[in-house]
Amino acid sequence: MHYEDIRRSLMARLPDGLILLSGGVPVARNHDVEYPFRQKSDFLYLTGAEEAGCYLLLEPGRRKSTLFIPKIDNHHRVWLGHVPGPAEARHLFGVANVAYASELGPALKRARKSARRCYADPEAWRRYKADLRLPNAAPALRDALDELRAVKTAAEIRLMRAANAASAKAHRAVMAAARPGLYEYEIQAVFEAECLKQGLGRLAYPSIVAAGANAAVLHYSRNNARMKSGDLLLIDAGAENKGYAADITRTFPVSGRFTPRQRDVYSLVLETQKRCITMTRAGVNSADLHVRSMWFIAEGLKSLGLLKGETSGLVEGGAVRIFYPHGLTHMLGLDVHDVTGGKKRRAKNPNKVPVRFVAKLEPGFVVTMEPGVYFIKALLQDPAVRRKYKGSVNFAKAESFLDFGGVRIEDDILVTRGAPVNLTDVPKEIKDVEEACRR
Ligand code: GLY
Ligand code: MN
Ligand code: MN
Repeated sequence: MHYEDIRRSLMARLPDGLILLSGGVPVARNHDVEYPFRQKSDFLYLTGAEEAGCYLLLEPGRRKSTLFIPKIDNHHRVWLGHVPGPAEARHLFGVANVAYASELGPALKRARKSARRCYADPEAWRRYKADLRLPNAAPALRDALDELRAVKTAAEIRLMRAANAASAKAHRAVMAAARPGLYEYEIQAVFEAECLKQGLGRLAYPSIVAAGANAAVLHYSRNNARMKSGDLLLIDAGAENKGYAADITRTFPVSGRFTPRQRDVYSLVLETQKRCITMTRAGVNSADLHVRSMWFIAEGLKSLGLLKGETSGLVEGGAVRIFYPHGLTHMLGLDVHDVTGGKKRRAKNPNKVPVRFVAKLEPGFVVTMEPGVYFIKALLQDPAVRRKYKGSVNFAKAESFLDFGGVRIEDDILVTRGAPVNLTDVPKEIKDVEEACRR
């Protein structure tokens, strides 16, 4: 199983100590109700185990992995049903050694004799420091996990492809279902039902289903407005598969046909995204891609009469950010905004424009490509913004777009040494989107 290979890679990076990781524990919501449990990403990465209350002990010197699972008594079985015992867990998770969590303390006391330090995550350290009694190098553990998790293995890419394929099917179902008069939550239900039907019961993040002006709220999550004819609908939603995320956005006309104004803005975002995807390959700095996308968007907004002046000034002075206030790309994996690759990989941003995600892309990275253009009331009507950018923004024209909302198009891209591999197969060309909207 690929989890054993991943555990070996971690042991090879931290050969001189005991590695101890804690799994997640359920969080109480109130009385007898818990929030839905989601395993910690590091724990999923190393074991695939989705059960709560586990620990993982790795002993690099002995090339030994032991999974510690909670002992479930009959009272718990009455409420929780079947929970795997050690023999079953050994088979299920491909870990050669499985024991009950109550045996972890004594196991650490034995194992520490042959180790000089430990690498324990903060929760494991709090709980077991008295048994470990070794110096803890927690930052080195974090760094090793970030380094490893950034580069996806072939097995991880298969899981991500499956998350993407299921989410793509759900996005297509949404395009076919949307029509004026429905509520955003009905579209959310179509998306989530389609994921569930394919066996993926968990989303990678809360679905954003935003019609009309709501699309200009970047992390809109109310999803409770009624869609009107003439609205665009922005849906940013993705399922997760064994913890691995899909992160996909499409924007399409609720009534199935783009208006000329919608075509203009949509085409600008689409062309920007396609150009950036073409440039996504090993060795490229993600910050350069983001800045290039700002150039493309600024040029396009100039030709639409929304921005004016030298493009370099619009990008470096920040005017373009009024319409495009978020990043172009982020890492994707077990977290939707995934780890960026550890200390050693920290790259410099050679541009004058500050950018949040700065990394030299490597084969095996999976990143999103998600430019957008929005008409955001809070920015367009802010007196300080208007004063600062009165020479660069046609505010009167921009305000005539306040009912427009925005457009974002987001695909998930596997970085290689050669051509980028787009994991997302959902219509995005105007004619294909209009076709997919036909019922
Ligand atoms: N869905 C969150 C994002 O696109 O980054
Ligand atoms: Mn994203
Ligand atoms: Mn997204």
